[in-house]
Amino acid sequence: MSTDNPAGIPRIGDTAPDFTVATTHGEIRFSEWQGDSWAILFSHPADFTPVCTTELTEFARRSEEFAERNVKLIGLSVDSIHSHLAWTQNIKEKIGIQLPFPLIADLDGSVAEAYGMLHPGESATLTVRAVFLIDPIRTVRALVYYPLNAGRNISEVLRLVDALQTVDEHGVACPVDWKPGEKVIVPPPKTEKEVLERLNSDFEKVDFYLMKKEI
Ligand code: BEZ
Repeated sequence: MSTDNPAGIPRIGDTAPDFTVATTHGEIRFSEWQGDSWAILFSHPADFTPVCTTELTEFARRSEEFAERNVKLIGLSVDSIHSHLAWTQNIKEKIGIQLPFPLIADLDGSVAEAYGMLHPGESATLTVRAVFLIDPIRTVRALVYYPLNAGRNISEVLRLVDALQTVDEHGVACPVDWKPGEKVIVPPPKTEKEVLERLNSDFEKVDFYLMKKEI
């Protein structure tokens, strides 16, 4: 099986590439800015575009929900800092929302390149709608890519955060459409002893390899 990665996209389990860059909150080194938090690095195609405006304002409206989960948000496009500042000012004036997170001005596209956010088949110049979910030890835990013409679902991004934090805390897995409060998957047994333990448990059982429990 080939493990080539010609597109150079950081994959799940990889260490998130570090970088130093200009943002609307000043120059940052990504790893220092992230600190001990989880981070969501997300790209949008361009400033002053309609779908992007709906996405960024929704991230802003729900930023407290990310903060409650110890997740820091940071946006990125290949626009200049002046464009970002004009756009954030425009959003504040027209929609009444101050974006609480920084926007990276990746004018030379170096961060977009490092994170595989430029998909030439979709656009030669604009970043696609990427979401990188990075844990506090800087491991990429999930990546999601959306095209230029369809906005993301912020509830799903939050659900993914909840699922991964639950996985880490309880050593379990989360089933399809899982939401906080619902039963989780008991990891499948790896030994005959574990098969017996699970069969003798009060877990919700479908078969020895598919059991759910409350947490
Ligand atoms: C938008 O955000 O509306 C958008 C951006 C780039 C291409 C198409 C749509």
